[in-house]
Amino acid sequence: MLKLYHELAYLWPLLSPPEDYEPEAIAILAVIDTYLKRPSDQRPVLVEMGAGGGHTLSHLAENFELLAVDIASPMLINCSMVCPQATTILGDMRQVDLERAVDVVLIHDAVDYMLTAEDVQQTFANAAKHLKPGGLIIVAPTYTTESFENNQSISDQHEDRQFHVAFTSKVSLVKETPSQFVMLMAFDITENGQTTRLTDEHRCGLFSERNWLDWITAAGFKVHHVDELDEMPWHGFVGIK
Ligand SMILES: C[S@@+](CC[C@H](N)C(=O)[O-])C[C@H]1O[C@@H](n2cnc3c(N)ncnc32)[C@H](O)[C@@H]1O
Repeated sequence: MLKLYHELAYLWPLLSPPEDYEPEAIAILAVIDTYLKRPSDQRPVLVEMGAGGGHTLSHLAENFELLAVDIASPMLINCSMVCPQATTILGDMRQVDLERAVDVVLIHDAVDYMLTAEDVQQTFANAAKHLKPGGLIIVAPTYTTESFENNQSISDQHEDRQFHVAFTSKVSLVKETPSQFVMLMAFDITENGQTTRLTDEHRCGLFSERNWLDWITAAGFKVHHVDELDEMPWHGFVGIK
């Protein structure tokens, strides 16, 4: 079980504040405005698969009816606090049943946790099942094979009135499985003068731009690579059902 999304979920708003997600949310809105053709009197429904703390969704609440799917219930509790407008659904993006049709399926940084081609294909098939005709799938992996820098590390510090957290993370390719990388994280958490160190290891998938485009196409979507079409501060793929 990933500590960051369970026992350390209470730190998520401190480590990755909602305001940091505004530029991405603006880019996502621009993509939706460009590609989603819909009658103007209907409020579209957007689901984020792997919505985490709802930090992206919190910037989209004015524009959409929101559904937040996540596999980690502590993150959905965070989501309900940051973005109370979203309906939370505990589930796995590969097979969750939303029991309704939606206009947009957003799979932002959580798509990193799809480790194999089969994982991605199941996720895209599930998105296709839920989307209305003309609906959009928007996929934004943190890295593609082309953008990944092996052994890259970052360190930063975060604090509020209660906690000080010194955080480091490093990403490295998995030697025996080059379509995966590992993100190693260390957290030094200080509260009331006492510091506790916790580490966490996340295994993630790493696929080429060609793979992403092919898998979206194979799931029945007409595909666009957003970087190629616009000068948006955002890297991602969009498919139209
Ligand atoms: C980086 S966080 C997402 C942060 C989110 N974009 C936000 O705005 O706060 C990644 C999330 O993906 C979720 N996740 C990982 N695998 C999943 C799966 N198979 N199905 C649904 N959610 C998953 C994790 O529980 C975690 O909350």
